[in-house]
Amino acid sequence: MKLIIRDNSNDVTEWAAKYVIKRIKEYNPGPDNYFVLGLPTGGTPLGMYKNLVRAYKNGKISFKYVKTFNMDEYVGIAEEHPESYHRYMFDNFFKHIDIDPNNVHILNGNATDLKKECEEYERKITESGGIELFIGGIGPDGHIAFNEPGSSLVSRTRVKTLAQDTILANARFFDGNVDAVPKQALTVGVGTVMDAREVFILITGASKAYALYKALEEGVSHMWTVSAFQQHGNTMIICDEDATLELRVRTVKYFKDMWSVHEKLNELVSEQAMRKLVL
Ligand code: F6R
Repeated sequence: MKLIIRDNSNDVTEWAAKYVIKRIKEYNPGPDNYFVLGLPTGGTPLGMYKNLVRAYKNGKISFKYVKTFNMDEYVGIAEEHPESYHRYMFDNFFKHIDIDPNNVHILNGNATDLKKECEEYERKITESGGIELFIGGIGPDGHIAFNEPGSSLVSRTRVKTLAQDTILANARFFDGNVDAVPKQALTVGVGTVMDAREVFILITGASKAYALYKALEEGVSHMWTVSAFQQHGNTMIICDEDATLELRVRTVKYFKDMWSVHEKLNELVSEQAMRKLVL
């Protein structure tokens, strides 16, 4: 696992956008060779989406040959609902770029047969050739997508009942009304994300510091589902300084030193190459 530490959340999201652009360009997608991208919602990636939109508007990147698969969606709220993940993705990203809406995949939380919807989603991912780069975010309890503590680390896309803590935490998005918060969601499984050829996880803020510590310094545990990525061959976590607060000083230094060596060897992510890429 690689860990990149940036000064603050703005630096994290700017670097993340540049990395996504570089990966897409390097892949050189075309009509017979789509770049398949897994995407998260939430507060953390908002800056990344803003930077990607800016880069598109400045002619730095096209999403014409990109297919996307989102991580999750609530069950039983309308797609137009301000808190639906459909709405989030279109408002913050898709409606501003040149992606073909047919290449956008978001789980349908209003499907009549939810189980079938999840199975179809897995099938579509496989049919697209698998996910090249899965971008994720985590909660303070270490969840990735809606894979909350105790989720199977080999889980696939499925219907998930939300933990009471998540329902209470999400009430703030529903005018404080706990009853209005959806109690279930459709989510990709940990195993679904593990199948991606590369996983890129954005973690910012002190509230995620303990989860980052669990992900990096302790063993794999279904109680901290993000820790599963210790067993993925190509995972990179990008975090800000605040998110490192629970890590040992030795761990932070180790990863900083390791990254500076990696940067020197790897033109794609060198500080110089990243600086050259103006969004
Ligand atoms: C997003 C998702 C979640 C969030 C996580 C963090 O689709 O499935 O894993 O990434 O809950 O959310 P924020 O970024 O709002 O702290």
